[in-house]
Amino acid sequence: MLHIDVLTVLPELLESPFSHSILSRAQKKKLVKIEIHNIRDFTTDKHQKTDDYMYGGSAGMVMMIEPIHRCLQKIQEQRQLDEIIFMTPDGEKLEQKHCNQLSLKKNIAVLCGHYKGVDERVREHFITREISIGDYVLSGGELPAAVLVDSIVRLVPGVLNDETSALTDSFQDNLLSPPVYTRPEVYNGWQVPGILLSGHEKKINDWRHEKAVERTKQRRPDLLKD
Ligand code: ADE
Repeated sequence: MLHIDVLTVLPELLESPFSHSILSRAQKKKLVKIEIHNIRDFTTDKHQKTDDYMYGGSAGMVMMIEPIHRCLQKIQEQRQLDEIIFMTPDGEKLEQKHCNQLSLKKNIAVLCGHYKGVDERVREHFITREISIGDYVLSGGELPAAVLVDSIVRLVPGVLNDETSALTDSFQDNLLSPPVYTRPEVYNGWQVPGILLSGHEKKINDWRHEKAVERTKQRRPDLLKD
């Protein structure tokens, strides 16, 4: 079973994404356990402060090390973490190959950043990996954490009904997915490509591969370079 611990100051933001569809099914099937930890529960001061002013001055608050450290300690009393990931726009850009690697781990913790950042000592001493979901800045690491967790969990064996469906995802073989169609055969005069109705499996697979290559050449030629 893959165990994912998420550390956040906004647990409410993560409840919905983890309680529907594939993520909820994966947890019910006991293939994955996702635990959300409220960093605020690990403060020692009476105002439950998790952030403070930046040393040296400048606008914006910085997440404090102590509550994060105490939260990680509590998790590590129960399991040994393989990775402690920090979601941050200056991390390594998330790609399918990272999702594949992470789906093979046992215990992963994900720290959601907030405010102007997190005390650098957290990154130096606890974090094993820093991940960005793209070159844009979000208000916090919760949505990025939800993206990361979703992309990992769907790859855990048994999570998807038809296991092959993750293998045919875009990016798995550096190709985008081919177009897909469903009923009706004709809508508004627009036809489904005849080959898909032929029942000829080999021809259909060849057609799909050809379309995948064509689409990748048009939209993401960079993927074909390596
Ligand atoms: N936190 C804020 N923006 C982010 C991004 N693009 N990726 C990961 N974490 C973030």
